[in-house]
Amino acid sequence: MPHKPFKAVIPAAGLGTRFLPATKAMPKEMLPVVDKPAIQYVVEEATQAGISDILIIIGRNKNALSNHFDSVPELETNLEKKGDTDRLAKVQQSSDLADIHFVRQGEPKGLGHAVLRARSHVGDNPFAVLLGDDLIDDRDPLLTKMLEEHERTGAAIVALMEVDPAHIHMYGVASVEEGSEDGVVKVTGLVEKPKAEDAPSNLAIIGRYVLSPAVFDILERTEPGKGGEIQLTDALQELAADPDGPGVYGVVFRGRRYDTGDRVDYIKAIVQLAADREDLGPDLRPWFKEFAATL
Ligand code: G1P
Repeated sequence: MPHKPFKAVIPAAGLGTRFLPATKAMPKEMLPVVDKPAIQYVVEEATQAGISDILIIIGRNKNALSNHFDSVPELETNLEKKGDTDRLAKVQQSSDLADIHFVRQGEPKGLGHAVLRARSHVGDNPFAVLLGDDLIDDRDPLLTKMLEEHERTGAAIVALMEVDPAHIHMYGVASVEEGSEDGVVKVTGLVEKPKAEDAPSNLAIIGRYVLSPAVFDILERTEPGKGGEIQLTDALQELAADPDGPGVYGVVFRGRRYDTGDRVDYIKAIVQLAADREDLGPDLRPWFKEFAATL
């Protein structure tokens, strides 16, 4: 368990245009993955790694997010009266998870800009950044190892995963030193969403970072990059290139990750997670087989 009081920052200010019209009036982070909103998985991941102070960066139309992590007295009283303790526990679970704070991003100027909005809340603490589009299976812990690596090295830590070269243009991509120790690699450079032919490797940043507050000074002066947005990857590239600093390390993840940022992957995530669930899997698995045979 880490000794420093890590905080977590969850950027959730995206417009969710890929999921319109579902996201017209509702943030994409509230889309259910089986029966929980995507963002609750991410908050639970942070709490499972021992982090209890969580800042969510929100955009417009994000009241549903703060409501979700708040208590709902009328619903709770209603369930209590009915003696529906199972559902009551589910309702209360999301409000009891952690100490959750919100700050608005203002203008959507990119991930780096969103992270910079966390500066006054984070203060002098090291912190984790968790992106809501990537869900990490709780059977394959990643964040705890990243926090430990940060404590050991003082470096910025990114989660890396080997991806199909056909998809590499959708990610921040790392060049790394040869050889790894216990799945940890030294990152020598980072580039945001390169073309496949320009990608330095097939190691993509998946949305988990552990950073020192020093990154805020860099983000303050980071110019808009790819897509005209202030990119976190560009700030991390500066840390990786600094010969006098602690640098950047990558924890290479080989576990189960679900991408909920894209419609096809979102549906796959629901199918996989539901099939594995004890309460739903026994009914679903035989049906999946029958259904697959009809395709
Ligand atoms: C962001 C980051 C990118 C990272 C990705 C992981 O991109 O900018 O470096 O690889 O998350 O999901 P986005 O998917 O928000 O465009």
